Amino acid sequence: MSADLSSTPDIETDAAALLPPLLSRAYARYANFTVAAAVIDEHGAVHLGVNVENAAYPSGTCAEQTAIGAMVTAGARRISRVLIAAGSNAVVQPCGACRQRIAEFASDSCEIVSVQDGVPTRRTAFRDLLPESFGPRDLD
Ligand code: THU
Repeated sequence: MSADLSSTPDIETDAAALLPPLLSRAYARYANFTVAAAVIDEHGAVHLGVNVENAAYPSGTCAEQTAIGAMVTAGARRISRVLIAAGSNAVVQPCGACRQRIAEFASDSCEIVSVQDGVPTRRTAFRDLLPESFGPRDLD
């Protein structure tokens, strides 16, 4: 699911506000921990995702993964920011597997932004979350 907020003055604020209502669409019947994510691409388009769990637990997907899939499906290839909101309203950083998925598309200045009560709060440079990672350049 994607939304074009590229002409709004503050994409990040608007994208953050989309996340709390989205939490109710998370499919989190096992962990009961809902997560919603927004990926902002290099063009300012916003791609949304929620976690989708599965009875075969490892087959579940994180909200970030769902949002990255939406971004790629929409034709974009570069992530400038990832916004994350949890139903608990706590600051949640992407899990290890999602850090690797983000690394595949992250811009050099990519940031991870926590969202609480629909408002951007903590901001972390993505390179600090996964330094010296293996990525597409290693296969060039
Ligand atoms: N989860 C996410 O969707 N994103 C994160 O960054 C951390 C964890 C999900 C996976 C699982 O459905 C639930 O939260 C508990 O781990």
